Amino acid sequence: MKTAGLTAPEFRARKGAEKLVVVTAYDATFARLVEQAGVDAVLVGDSLGMVVQGRRDTLGVTLDHVLYHTRCVAAGLSHTHLIADMPFLTYQVSPEEALRNAGRLVQEAGAHAVKLEGGARSAPAIRRVVEAGIPVMGHVGLTPQSVHQFGGYRVQGRDEAAARRLVEDALAVAEAGAYALVLEGIPAPLAAEITSNIPIPTIGIGASAHCDGQVLVLYDLLGMDDDFNPKFLKKYDRLSERIRGAVSRFRDEVHAGVFPDKDHSFGG
Ligand code: KIV
Repeated sequence: MKTAGLTAPEFRARKGAEKLVVVTAYDATFARLVEQAGVDAVLVGDSLGMVVQGRRDTLGVTLDHVLYHTRCVAAGLSHTHLIADMPFLTYQVSPEEALRNAGRLVQEAGAHAVKLEGGARSAPAIRRVVEAGIPVMGHVGLTPQSVHQFGGYRVQGRDEAAARRLVEDALAVAEAGAYALVLEGIPAPLAAEITSNIPIPTIGIGASAHCDGQVLVLYDLLGMDDDFNPKFLKKYDRLSERIRGAVSRFRDEVHAGVFPDKDHSFGG
């Protein structure tokens, strides 16, 4: 079993070599399992607002929430590269605030790197955090913290002008010193163009196979929500059915007096 995880420079150096695999996690139990499965990095995404907290979007997630879940995930990992998401308003106000908040995710929660959304407008924050020695993963395209500006969760960069802006944004993030870039919800040809034009790996979600790696929200790939079926999502299991099945068998056996039996009881 592998015992040394990727560092940020090693993650970056995988561009054009082996594809990178990233999943989200929010607690120690799932973190341990995804590490055992051999992912390259674990992201404590602000998607926790939806899949853990039951919100409609990520905007209500706070730094304290991400600190808490990053500590939980760090406790379940022995070596895997750990990235913590920077929530809405923790990096937009000023580069100094971005650095202070990124620093807390590293110092208090054990993150190896942080991720933040936005292209050219986030470049000063990225530069400041990177200068202080904290690796930053960028995130452009359908950036969920801008959902109200987009008018919903819509694929971005569909027309030529928007596509050109996204290419510029990706270049700005790379030039600011990010070691990788998430591309979310953009057309395949645009993902291919960005991937071949920037020197850092692109990690796609809803951005086709033309990226240097892929990321999925763990609960989505496990099939925990019957009602969440976007085009980009492949469910590798139907855990929602299996969880309901296991818990209802437990309920039935308790009602029937079958559980606990002698094998699951202490003697005497
Ligand atoms: O919050 C999140 O989980 C993310 C990934 C989907 C990239 O940002």
